[in-house]
Amino acid sequence: MTQIVTSSEAMEAAGAALVKNLATPAVIYLRGDLGAGKTTLVRGALRQLGHSGLVKSPTFTLVESYSLSDIEVYHLDLYRISDPEELEYIGIREFNSGSTLCFIEWPDLGAPLIPNANIEVKIEYVTEGRRLIVEDHKR
Ligand SMILES: Nc1ncnc2c1ncn2[C@@H]1O[C@H](COP(=O)(O)OP(=O)(O)OP(=O)(O)O)[C@@H](O)[C@H]1O
Ligand SMILES: [Mg+2]
Repeated sequence: MTQIVTSSEAMEAAGAALVKNLATPAVIYLRGDLGAGKTTLVRGALRQLGHSGLVKSPTFTLVESYSLSDIEVYHLDLYRISDPEELEYIGIREFNSGSTLCFIEWPDLGAPLIPNANIEVKIEYVTEGRRLIVEDHKR
């Protein structure tokens, strides 16, 4: 599925649409250059799932987790990871079981320790804003 997304608000709406009726557990990879809108998409998804507080970029913390009413959401940003073994310490094994969603920015830096993706999202810069490409691998 491909769509053109012309604003941050529309990017949040795309994130909301992505998680609506999504079965858990699910792992979602987010690829795209710096500033493409990956975190913005996750923010929209979290709002849809009932999170009303801040959504911070996990660039420095590696992971931000959100315990919502019936779902745990993990948001990883591996841009600054220096050794994939750091993933063991943050408990990566727990992020793909039960009622969880796991979003991973810069997933290629976490290979081979991160779980396989159920959904792969690619965000590209285009003149009108961004092109969003969503590949659903089911399970
Ligand atoms: N479709 C869009 N059109 C225009 N601006 C957008 C769009 N989506 C997001 N933005 C804006 O782009 C900026 C960067 O977004 P964001 O932090 O989500 O990027 P990112 O891909 O997570 O970057 P990083 O790799 O640094 O974590 C924000 O100011 C956001 O509001
Ligand atoms: Mg980000």
